[in-house]
Amino acid sequence: MSVHVQNSRMTTAKLRQMKTAGEKIAMLTSYDFTLARLLDEAGVEILLVGDSASNVVCGNQYTLPITVDEMIFLTKGVVRAAQHALVVCDMPFGSYQVSEEEAVRNAIKILKESGCDAVKLEGGEEILPAIRHMIQAGVPVMGHLGLTPQSVNQFGGYGLRAKEEAEAEKLLHDAKLLDEAGCFSIVLEKIPADLAERVTKAVSCPVIGIGAGNRCDGQVLVLHDMLGLNQGFKPKFLRHFAQLADDVKNAAGQYVSAVKEGSFPSAEESY
Ligand code: KIV
Repeated sequence: MSVHVQNSRMTTAKLRQMKTAGEKIAMLTSYDFTLARLLDEAGVEILLVGDSASNVVCGNQYTLPITVDEMIFLTKGVVRAAQHALVVCDMPFGSYQVSEEEAVRNAIKILKESGCDAVKLEGGEEILPAIRHMIQAGVPVMGHLGLTPQSVNQFGGYGLRAKEEAEAEKLLHDAKLLDEAGCFSIVLEKIPADLAERVTKAVSCPVIGIGAGNRCDGQVLVLHDMLGLNQGFKPKFLRHFAQLADDVKNAAGQYVSAVKEGSFPSAEESY
């Protein structure tokens, strides 16, 4: 029997057991109650309220503008829906970089007000003191290395990270530091598959990949992207598991026609 189905609620300890057992972990982003309930029922083990909400929910070009209070608002709905999945909330840009004290204060605020299980933050050695303080305070932390979208202005785009040996070695070093500090998991975004495998083997915590090949302990995708809601966005690593943009447009188009021709609502649909 898989680790996941033995007990109904996912925990950070069970995620470690899944890594040890070689059982892959399925994580998706989630931003609202209705879809979170479906993802939870489908067996998704980690629901990430990603700061990608800034893009796919709010329509911003970057993840940078979203605030702690906006993340808490979205996370509350996901928490209410999750019967089994572990719910992780992204700490938005600016909420953990200024000082360790502010980072811990914001992490505790997110946990207390949203009811989520854990937080995720982007970066390695630079933010290690903040991560250590959070973990000491009892906040479960997920790390995020490789392409870290909050640093888009530093990187100058969303290209593949850690192609060169020096950056690859720094990433491996950072992953070991996060693991030793007690992160319960690490996301690796858009890095070569061989490097992702090296990191996965080098750390004791589960490694979740996005654009990092299939030798990680699990995978994550942005929900709107994998559902095909975001038609213009099709990087090499993304698989569309549905084409919902077409379905939504067809349904809305049929509704518009039915309203305009007066066939909706019918007699049966009226009181
Ligand atoms: O915000 C987000 O959606 C993420 C995933 C891409 C891992 O951080």
